[in-house]
Amino acid sequence: MNVHDSERLAGLLESAGYVPAAQGADADVVVFNTCAVRENADNRLYGNLGHLYPTKKNNPGMQIAVGGCLAQKDRSVILDRAPWVDVVFGTHNLHRLPVLLERARHNAAAQVEIAEALEVFPSSLPARRASHHSAWVSISVGCDNTCTFCIVPSLRGGERDRRPGDVLAEVEALVAEGALEITLLGQNVNSYGRSLGDPGAFARLLRACGNIEGLERVRFTSPHPRDFTDDVIEAMAQTPNVCPQLHMPLQSGSDAVLRRMRRSYRRERFLGIVERVREAIPHAAITTDIIVGFPGETEEDFADTLDVVRAARFAGAFTFKYSPRPGTPAAEMDGAVDPAVVSERYERLASLQDEMSWAENRAQVGRRVEILVSEGEGRKDSETGRLSGRARDGRLVHLLVTGPHAQDGVVRPGDVIEAVVTRGAPHHLTADGPLHSHRRTTAGDAWEAARSRGSEAGSEAGPEVLSPAGSVSPGSGQPAVSLGMPTLRTGPAAR
Ligand code: 5AD
Ligand code: SF4
Repeated sequence: MNVHDSERLAGLLESAGYVPAAQGADADVVVFNTCAVRENADNRLYGNLGHLYPTKKNNPGMQIAVGGCLAQKDRSVILDRAPWVDVVFGTHNLHRLPVLLERARHNAAAQVEIAEALEVFPSSLPARRASHHSAWVSISVGCDNTCTFCIVPSLRGGERDRRPGDVLAEVEALVAEGALEITLLGQNVNSYGRSLGDPGAFARLLRACGNIEGLERVRFTSPHPRDFTDDVIEAMAQTPNVCPQLHMPLQSGSDAVLRRMRRSYRRERFLGIVERVREAIPHAAITTDIIVGFPGETEEDFADTLDVVRAARFAGAFTFKYSPRPGTPAAEMDGAVDPAVVSERYERLASLQDEMSWAENRAQVGRRVEILVSEGEGRKDSETGRLSGRARDGRLVHLLVTGPHAQDGVVRPGDVIEAVVTRGAPHHLTADGPLHSHRRTTAGDAWEAARSRGSEAGSEAGPEVLSPAGSVSPGSGQPAVSLGMPTLRTGPAAR
């Protein structure tokens, strides 16, 4: 969600006349889009601001803006701790950034502006998308749940759904610009549509994406096991462009812990969904989020989590140590787990999950997979001469291409290739055999056109930008800024 908001912030600034600073150069404006979901985000922001202080002192005209969840939480405290910051804005008023920068410059005074409710749906703002082939599309913002560990609802507000027609119009516009893959975004995609009086809306939205010509891959994040209904599994299985992939947060495998987390599903329900997804979509890669050391977690509770990890055979998991967040019910709970015990459990969970992911990845050896080539996903690609990309099930694949296809510009980011998996590692696959097919795509064409525009203009590489898959791509072949989608009404208003 934050990565996509950053695309909107970059789009807004570029529409206001700013240009990306060349890599390594000192920027005139630095914007931090912050996260507050765990405590280390706090520490990192203040550390980063401290690092920037000498630069700012030497360049008095430089401006620093802090936005996003941590700004919504800390508000003017940011200025108390780092008085050299020029602008603080929150999660509900991204669109104000250019005006606030201007006003801070004009008044020579810091501007803090935090809104209590969403003012403008971010999808209506311009965007500087990080990639031609893959794009995020918000279906909702905010969350109506009350998970006791989570700070998100207090910082992002209640769920506001976009109308399906608006979402589909944005997807169609992206596909017309060359995108092949979209990821539908919401804090809880399964409750999408409730505010519109249409509980079946998410399954229908997936099926409607299936009718968009040229859209090859549809993903979504994140579902909530409580609200996950079988109509969504059917829609996933019956819509050919919906990818065989599911990222579904477990959080804990212990029913007692889930109850205290106020996550109103139980392990049996979670495993039931996993089983039905595997029945309907046999090759689905299922991944999850797990928190270790929630208050009161006993060794027995933790053993239940390990059990679910074994039973679910996750292809991967994001694992977190519980981090108390101010204002959340869990932060007030008794039974804090000793940090040494948390670390020890965390290590055990991570090594079990690595073992499981590795076994799942080894089972892929010999399979022919379709890979959407991306840029910058393999950090060592330039050293190893490999290409990288994602398989349909979301797995990261590295491959060594030889022969005519190895020449620069033949296989382009955004093109689609097929190869056979030769090795499974815990966190990626390798497919070093011959290329079985190579399809030039509209996304590859768009990348190539942008690259040649960049070199004709003699432009330097832009800043590094996170793409949907979390990769870093240099700015040279980037898409142009696209206009926001007009949004007529959102959730409550639509009701
Ligand atoms: N402590 C640790 N992990 C957390 N998450 C959310 N809040 C916390 C917290 N207070 C994790 C959850 C969520 C993911 C995005 O971050 O696993 O799914
Ligand atoms: Fe947080 Fe729970 Fe909402 Fe996810 S569903 S954003 S964990 S409150």
